[in-house]
Amino acid sequence: MAADPTTGPGPATAPAPVPAATRTDDPWWRSAVTYQLYIRSFADGNGDGLGDVAGIRQRLPYLAALGVDAIWVNPWYPSPQADGGYDVSDYRDIEPAFGTLDEAQAMIDEAHALGLKVILDIVPNHTSDEHAWFVAALAAGPGSPERARYLFRPGKGPDGALPPNDWKAVFGGPAWERVTEPDGTPGEWYLHLFDPKQPDLDWENPEVRGEFLDILRFWFDRGADGFRIDVAHGLVKDPAMPDLGDDEEHLLGTPDRADHPHWDLPGVHDIYREWRVLADSYDPPKLFVAEAWVSSPERLAAYLRPDELHTAFDFDFVRAAWDAAELRATATSSLAAHDRVGAPVMWTLSNHDITRHVSRLGRPQSERSADPLHGSNGVTDVELGRRRARAALLLELALPGGVYLYQGEELGLEEVEDLPEELLQDPTWERSGHIERGRDGCRVPLPWAPDGPSLGFGGAAPWLPQPASWSAVSAASQEGDPTSMLALYREALRLRRDLPALGAGTGADITWLDLGDDVVAFRREPGVVCLVNCGSTPAPLPAGRVLLASVPLDLSATEGLPADTAVWLAV
Ligand code: BGC
Repeated sequence: MAADPTTGPGPATAPAPVPAATRTDDPWWRSAVTYQLYIRSFADGNGDGLGDVAGIRQRLPYLAALGVDAIWVNPWYPSPQADGGYDVSDYRDIEPAFGTLDEAQAMIDEAHALGLKVILDIVPNHTSDEHAWFVAALAAGPGSPERARYLFRPGKGPDGALPPNDWKAVFGGPAWERVTEPDGTPGEWYLHLFDPKQPDLDWENPEVRGEFLDILRFWFDRGADGFRIDVAHGLVKDPAMPDLGDDEEHLLGTPDRADHPHWDLPGVHDIYREWRVLADSYDPPKLFVAEAWVSSPERLAAYLRPDELHTAFDFDFVRAAWDAAELRATATSSLAAHDRVGAPVMWTLSNHDITRHVSRLGRPQSERSADPLHGSNGVTDVELGRRRARAALLLELALPGGVYLYQGEELGLEEVEDLPEELLQDPTWERSGHIERGRDGCRVPLPWAPDGPSLGFGGAAPWLPQPASWSAVSAASQEGDPTSMLALYREALRLRRDLPALGAGTGADITWLDLGDDVVAFRREPGVVCLVNCGSTPAPLPAGRVLLASVPLDLSATEGLPADTAVWLAV
């Protein structure tokens, strides 16, 4: 028996929903779907096994046809690649293995010509140890203005042989490295919250602040439409640098305490106020999206106050289990916190640091690790994961706000969990003493074709080997198959653009419906209902016309919405 979708427990006191389509003054980023390009693994244009700018340029038409609004390119600057390019040695050029500045300019222009916005990745917390500033700092010695751009401190103990405090690096081991002074003696220590090849900058230093404003300007002037801010919550440190005690550090630093001495300090907000002024000085204004692993939606929203950043990834959504109550609670609290500061939520399921969601969702949810990043989470049922991933896509694309997709999810790629140890490149593997395998499993080069030595990625041997099974899920293999993951992504993105009910919006633009404990159900105006059945038995299906379902759905034959399935209904 079909339930009535209009009789749910929608918030009685909420303001009348304003259909997103009527807000014509909304900037593009409030509803955009952005596709993340992990450049070294996206497409290899010159056949050396590493993705590059030429590869991106060849595949821009694919991205435009997929139906996304924007691309975000992971760091493409010159870098020793100690952390996949998040160790930048020159912020105003392109890594030679990826291409040239001219090619980058051509890529930005070609993306624009296809109607795609371009978001770049800025890494302000640390430079590479091969950056000219750090090289100069080592040469200049203690007390110099060169050292004052970083966080050098004397060691503890009679001869300074102990690190200045007990902070741990995100990738494992201590967060301090001792240097040899120019005269050859053991000297000061410098802080690196990540790898020793990533020394932290001192954001109390006005020269550091000025330099990054200038770098932002450099790329904005070349047409970049915005920046993703790496470790946005980490730039400011407590100058007293107190010990942390036995505080548990997590990959990428999710702080569990409000008074943490290096994550999410109030001082970061002043930096972003300055950045916002710069972004707003352009016409049209430029955009920021923060990577900020903070402890609550409220703390995230603090980054999104009207004079700060525009958007931030919603990692609570990533952390939620495949459970209707949890998904609904997460969406509700994120929307409420963002609404209080007038910012849209940026929903996301995967990125280059996180276990691919096909694998996360294909594991027993009760056994899954509380940490979505990496780690062993039991046996993975890839087919189940793909089924749930299809449903999860319809959920995130129907929620009010914007969405970030990670390359390869449109093919249904799973985490590669059996990469040979000798090939692992994430610094986490070495720094954790071979305990944590790290993030390489979500960074395996994309399969573009069913055959060939690199499955169409380009060249003979990609920098990480692809599973043979990816031949069947290559982009070319899915082309023309209406039941494929790729077809679902294209159709969902097309509909999301066409349907005035979907896209931009706030918590006031959604009416939650009660269709049972296992179902996430809501209505958006005009007239679209999204249902997601996270349970194991069919759920009641309200009357309505199917706009799109995550699996083929025959309304005349079905007894309800099958398990692990989502549907968009026109009602
Ligand atoms: C990036 C990671 C990187 C780290 C250090 C992050 O949060 O997304 O890939 O390892 O920052 O830059």
